[in-house]
Amino acid sequence: MFKGIEDFIEMKAAGKKIVMITAYDFIQAGIAKEAGVDIVLVGDSLATTVQGKDNTLCATLEDMIYHAGIVKSALKDMFVACDMPFMSYQVSPEQALTNAGRILKESGVNAVKMEGGRAVAETVRRLTENGIPVIGHIGLMPQFINVLGGYKVQGKIESQIEKLVCDAKTLEKAGAFIIVLEAMPEEAALRVQRNVRIPTIGIGAGRYTDGQVLVFYDAVGMSPQKPPKFVKKFVDSRSLLVEALRTYGNEVRSGVFPADENIYK
Ligand code: KIV
Repeated sequence: MFKGIEDFIEMKAAGKKIVMITAYDFIQAGIAKEAGVDIVLVGDSLATTVQGKDNTLCATLEDMIYHAGIVKSALKDMFVACDMPFMSYQVSPEQALTNAGRILKESGVNAVKMEGGRAVAETVRRLTENGIPVIGHIGLMPQFINVLGGYKVQGKIESQIEKLVCDAKTLEKAGAFIIVLEAMPEEAALRVQRNVRIPTIGIGAGRYTDGQVLVFYDAVGMSPQKPPKFVKKFVDSRSLLVEALRTYGNEVRSGVFPADENIYK
């Protein structure tokens, strides 16, 4: 059954956790669907995971539309959101509307996500008023690493928590239907969670958010580097795949593969 915005808000009200995962291609999207996740996000983390870049700042609008279109083609009956990449929405609400419109029209996804609190409230309002659902993203915002001084945990002191709560309330008022909370102590996330009616989805934000999101490659243990503390590797698929390809290589070299059953007669 297709789950939409109202369903996510009802899930929060009923205390049912929302499961979100990122995906960047057809195979990952199909796996996410078979696994029964609630929402798939085409994250701009594709810049670091798929493209091997140092950060997410270089993801382009064309990259996002390309991957979002592939993911959505596997998930026609599922809610899919797509990140708005760096500098595709910050210039003005008009710029954001044009670019978000392109993302929805050209890829078929159901919503966009953007980083920022009060600073993007007017943009969130403009998009939602024009039929484009928006997911907010506060706390550690990877597009702001040059301002934040790196990937640092946010909301550690009272003034930062108050700012997070204020940002979340402003985003809700502007029309956001979910807010992603990244990298903060769980007490800070709880304060935000309690102060908004819309669901909060945490990544490195502890247990009290209304749902969780992880990057696909981190969750399935495919990332080459050691993942951050908040990640759980639910399977070590990188080791399994390396071992599988090593066996393939050995069998080719020794003549075991292809065997009779792999040969046309
Ligand atoms: O880009 C991304 O994948 C994200 C999620 C990790 C929330 O923003």
